[in-house]
Amino acid sequence: MKLPPALKALLAQIIGSVVALAVARSGVLPGGLWPVIAVQALAAAGSATALGSATWWRWIHLGFAPLVMVALQLHIPPGWYLAAFLGLALVFWSSFRTQVPLFLSNRKTAAAVAELLPRKRPARLLDLGSGTGSLLRPLAQMRPDCRLEGIESAPAPYALSLLLSRRQPTIALARGDFFAISWGGYDLVYAFLSPVPMTAVWRKASAELSPGALLVSNSFPVEDVEPEQVIDVDDRRRTRLYCYYPAGPALKKSGITGG
Ligand SMILES: C[S@@+](CC[C@H](N)C(=O)[O-])C[C@H]1O[C@@H](n2cnc3c(N)ncnc32)[C@H](O)[C@@H]1O
Repeated sequence: MKLPPALKALLAQIIGSVVALAVARSGVLPGGLWPVIAVQALAAAGSATALGSATWWRWIHLGFAPLVMVALQLHIPPGWYLAAFLGLALVFWSSFRTQVPLFLSNRKTAAAVAELLPRKRPARLLDLGSGTGSLLRPLAQMRPDCRLEGIESAPAPYALSLLLSRRQPTIALARGDFFAISWGGYDLVYAFLSPVPMTAVWRKASAELSPGALLVSNSFPVEDVEPEQVIDVDDRRRTRLYCYYPAGPALKKSGITGG
């Protein structure tokens, strides 16, 4: 079903609760709250399956109501729940909508990206969703001649990236939605996102990048588009970089040479 995952999750929980209430009222369950909780969990997980949620959502639904019960019995002051919620919201912000979580590029990946930047002139790079700046900071050391820009929507990673890069003047960071800014004028646009936004990223890159500008996607290829090159980074997570020329290669230039 074409509903956002967060809405499917809410629906599954509501259906689970309605089913549990109906079964409890029918009088077929043994006494106590746990049988009702078990029915709620099973019905929510079943609804998630019927709604076409990803497999891991079913496990979350199976555990959700039982864990709420356990947490209630621990009598944790409500302020802690609020603090945990606010902390997670500041880190993950709109992940429930964008379906892009926070995970970080490593130094070896930054080194591989550095190789893709033009070598004979200062270049401009844009990191879509720059997180804590873990791509930009090592890259700024490797290529001090380049201007490295990042845009991030989540407040906590953005604040941390500002703090950590405060002594690196070639890094420029902004807070906002990368779909709302122009990607024109960059030599390389880097994305480490998820499969979900890649078609929209491709469309925007094709419309706004100049010929010869590279789109480099860490781990998530663009569906139905053949990459110009795939780079296997020699790191523990076996990072793959999918490289595209969304507006075609530069005039009088062929292949990805970084030159
Ligand atoms: C997987 S992390 C990558 C972080 C960083 N680029 C790196 O390689 O270390 C993806 C980041 O993109 C951010 N993000 C997702 N959609 C976004 C959007 N539309 N605009 C700005 N940031 C976004 C998320 O908040 C998350 O921090």
